[in-house]
Order: sequence, then C-alpha cells, then structure tokens
Amino acid sequence: MAPIQPATNQTAIRVLGRGQAPGKVILFGEHAVVYGRPALAVPVTQVRAEAVVEPAAPGAGLMLVAADLGEEICLEDAPAQHPLVVAARLTLAELGLSESPPWRVVIRSSIPIAGGLGSGAAVSAALARAMADAAGQPLSPAALSAIVYQVEILHHGTPSGIDNSVVCYEQPIYFLRGRAPQTFSIGRSFTLAIANTGIASPTREAVADVRRGRERDPARFDALFDRIAAIVEQVKAAIEDGVPETLGPMMDENHALLREIGVSDPALDTLAEAARRAGAGGAKLSGAGRGGNLIALVTAETQDAVSSALRAAGAVDVIVTTVDGSEH
Ligand code: PMV
Repeated sequence: MAPIQPATNQTAIRVLGRGQAPGKVILFGEHAVVYGRPALAVPVTQVRAEAVVEPAAPGAGLMLVAADLGEEICLEDAPAQHPLVVAARLTLAELGLSESPPWRVVIRSSIPIAGGLGSGAAVSAALARAMADAAGQPLSPAALSAIVYQVEILHHGTPSGIDNSVVCYEQPIYFLRGRAPQTFSIGRSFTLAIANTGIASPTREAVADVRRGRERDPARFDALFDRIAAIVEQVKAAIEDGVPETLGPMMDENHALLREIGVSDPALDTLAEAARRAGAGGAKLSGAGRGGNLIALVTAETQDAVSSALRAAGAVDVIVTTVDGSEH
C-alpha cells in the first residue's frame, strides 16, 4: 500500500481564527455629532472586511498581511503608528498576550478606502476579532469598539466614536458622544443608494475646518448643529414608527445644513440633484463630506433609475442597500 502523502502547503493551511466586520453609513447627524449632538448610522453588509489567522513559523512573531494592498508587516519591526500595528498591539494587550504569537493574519476588505463607509474601522475590527478568535477569547462589542476607537484616532484625529460603534455592534446605532451607543429599531425596511464620488475624503481635514468655522462664529455653527439634532430625533421616530418614506425631505434639509457648515462640494451637490431628479425621495452627503459618499432614498421602483442617474452624474460606484435592522 502506498504511504499516505503529507498534505502540501497549499492544502494544509490551518485556520486558527477568523473575524469580519461590515461597512457602515452615517444616515443623519455627521459633524454635529462631534459637538455632542445625536447621529444615526447603520451597518452596510454588502461590503466587509475579513481577517484570517494562520500559523506562522515558530519564532516568526506576528505578521500582518494587507492582502489588497500587497503589504506585509512584521509587528516587531513595523512603524509604531501604523494603524494595523496599533490595532494588533491593542488587541494583544486586551487578550493578555505579552509576546507576539507566531501568527500570520491575512486581512482583506471590499470596503472602498477613505470613502466614508468605515473601511478603517472595519479592518481594525476584523483584525481584532480574528486574533481574539485565534486566542479562544471572543471580545465583547464594547471591548472591540474601544480598541477600534483608539485606531480611529490615527485616521480622524478627534473621532466622535460613531464609526467604531456601528461597525463593532453591527446594529443600527443612535449615537451621542461620550455615552454608550444605543440601538434603535427599524419599523419598516427602506432602501438607500450609496454613491461614491471617487474623491477620497480626509475626515481629519473636514473636521478641522468645521472646528475653525465654529471658532470664528460659535453661535451660527451651534444653531446649525441644533437644527441637525432636531432632524435626527424626527428621523429616529419616523424610522421606528415604520414611515421611512417620510425621510426624503429631512435628508434634503440635512444636506442643506451640511452645505451651510461648508462640507459639501460641487460633486456631492451634483449627485444629490441628479438623484432627486431621477426620483429619489431625498439625498444627502454621508460622512465627512468634501467628496466621499452621498446617500439617496430609493424604492424598488426608483432604485435602477436613480443608480443610473448617479453614475451618469459622475459616481464611480453605487451600492444599493436595504436597511432592515436584521444585519447582526
Ligand atoms: O467620514 P466618515 O464616514 O468616517 O464620517 C465622519 C463623521 C464625522 O461626524 C464628520 C466625524 C466623526 O468623528 O463623527
């Protein structure tokens, strides 16, 4: 009888742990949320980050492989401020592992980078979840969110905490800075077209500009933030009451307020106008603005026409997503 051949490397890669996290979209309240007003965000499950932990050679330490970017980082020699390195080190500390285990963590993501869909937060969350899984110590959403928040500081400077919350809790989130995130119910599902302007939006800069604007004219900015806060409360009630079709005008109004704050741009305004003309119930920028994403309220009847109009008006990508509260 022929001896049994050992498995080849290709077939024998053992998986020690897995983790994943969805993208996210801010529905209402961005920027104002930095100043203590409420905001609403939901997970976007069509796009996600995934991480897999494989064994590395004994003594190799922890290797981080950003597969989409062709980047391979050895934790020991990597720059201390690299976001993946910060995420990995915080996770090791949370898991009580003082020495780097011989792991190769391979990370992939289908979330567009710097497009306001939470790619940075999702990559950190997937990495931390996979490491926790490999260590046999699952992390609570709160512990995971605390790790991801620390990494978000590198991306954003002074993040409100909404991105890490929605990505780690994987539920619709009503968020107030400094408070534990609350979930809210989706009374009736609704559909959004999410259009990417293709303009990478540095959140840190938009947030810093808003801060400068508010320093110049606090009364005006605080009044704008208060109007946004009032919309957020109205929207939350409408979503919970199952009348999401009433959201459209509130999206338009929130977009107009964000324009006044100075974070829209011609690309976003063009997309918003195109979506409305093609039959969207309403449209607004989502996230930091100055590029990034626009969201438009669509129905089964209007989603194709609105998606085509958004592409024709310059969107490089359009994702249609249904918000139904069953993401987790
Ligand atoms: O660009 P995004 O989707 O990560 O959103 C930033 C949201 C802001 O309110 C502008 C900043 C923050 O930290 O909440």
